[in-house]
Amino acid sequence: MIATKPLDGAFGVEITGGIDVLAPLDPAQVQEIDRLMDEHSLIVIRNQPMDVDQQLAWTRQFGPLDIGFKKVISKGGAPQKYDEVGDISNLSTDGTVAKRTDKRILNNVANQLWHSDSSFQMPAAKYSMLHSVQNPSWGGETEFADMKAAYDALPDRMKSFVDDKVAEHFAVHSRFLLGDDSYTPEQVAAIPPAHWPIVRENPRTGRRHLFIGVHARSIEGLTVPEGRMILLDLLEHATQPQFRYLHHWQVGDTVIWDNRATLHRGRHYDFDEPRELRRTTTLDDQAPELKRAG
Ligand code: OGA
Ligand code: MN
Repeated sequence: MIATKPLDGAFGVEITGGIDVLAPLDPAQVQEIDRLMDEHSLIVIRNQPMDVDQQLAWTRQFGPLDIGFKKVISKGGAPQKYDEVGDISNLSTDGTVAKRTDKRILNNVANQLWHSDSSFQMPAAKYSMLHSVQNPSWGGETEFADMKAAYDALPDRMKSFVDDKVAEHFAVHSRFLLGDDSYTPEQVAAIPPAHWPIVRENPRTGRRHLFIGVHARSIEGLTVPEGRMILLDLLEHATQPQFRYLHHWQVGDTVIWDNRATLHRGRHYDFDEPRELRRTTTLDDQAPELKRAG
């Protein structure tokens, strides 16, 4: 039996017993965690430190892994084991804090925009698992928003307007928004845009939710400005405080979120202080939309 308690926020649960992240899960436990994810979209596990290999092993129990934005910056070739680990830190390879001009700091900044991981690719991300290794003395929380509640709270007119709309999500759009135009044409072309319905349904529960975030840059069938304004309006609506949970990190915490049904963003911190989180992510390779996109 997995024991849970609600989090101090609009949604999500903490697992308080019955799971040891270092021990293999049996199929019933995987099913139970999937069920909790379907219902709550976000799970916190506290005080269970993992090293990189342990985190990879834990995550693989939930499906094949995603390498995400590394497609833009990788040197090509077959994915390496550690391509599957997102280094969400401001540290250089020698362990010291990176210069503010370093690409990894720009990636940290981009993570502070509301997004759904890898929504710019097909298949996109399913579960992200973010694990805390080291935290700054202030700030650096991660904030989440519940796209099921946000969809439910839309006015009916807006619901019927967006119900059949499809948005284009593009990997480098967030970088352009932040004024970083340093990407080569090859990098820009490395991940072609992906197209997702703005309103999606969890195939296991039939529950509808919004699917938006900063990677979404236009809406099919509308002019770019009209579509973008609607996306901005939806984002403002969907990230109101009543839909949010703010996670204050402690070393050894893992937060697992369903990228299909939530948005998240990192919060500001002083980039001169070390902050180290590690992300592993599963692919949403069973999405019914994959058939449509063929
Ligand atoms: C991520 C992410 C935000 C943060 O790991 O996918 O967006 O708080 N992180 O660093
Ligand atoms: Mn992210």
